[in-house]
Amino acid sequence: MQTTAAHHTNKTAQALAKTLSEEYLLMLKTQNFHWNVEGPLFFSLHKLFESQYKELIEFIDDTAEIIRTYNVKSPGSFREFQKTAFIDEAPNDLISAQQMMDMLNRDHMSMSARLKEYMEDAEVVGDSNAVTLYEDLITFHDKAAWMIRSHRA
Ligand SMILES: [Fe+2]
Repeated sequence: MQTTAAHHTNKTAQALAKTLSEEYLLMLKTQNFHWNVEGPLFFSLHKLFESQYKELIEFIDDTAEIIRTYNVKSPGSFREFQKTAFIDEAPNDLISAQQMMDMLNRDHMSMSARLKEYMEDAEVVGDSNAVTLYEDLITFHDKAAWMIRSHRA
């Protein structure tokens, strides 16, 4: 039987693995839109999406490394990411800049809400590394959603 502490560690590691999966799929979607966005907002959105996917890459790396501090294997394949993630992948067909913004705005807001739940769980078990990561991620997602929304017609 697991000790209580080990059980908590496991639960925190699982939430971080889920976070990593979500963020990876959102990062790829943001990079996809950086490549494929068209229209009068092209330059602004191309640049904005670039800065957002680059920030996500840093967060993804931090998340995986915190998972490793628990001696738990970090997920690292799309197969694993897709098993746990809620984030929908980008459609295959080209979509409008407005549709890209709507999708990403929703994704960032839903990530922010889910991460608040994970952060509360990490607070309960006193996992300060995870709490700090979640705080920074929530700030990032709230800001990203606002910047994207502010471009909408
Ligand atoms: Fe680029």
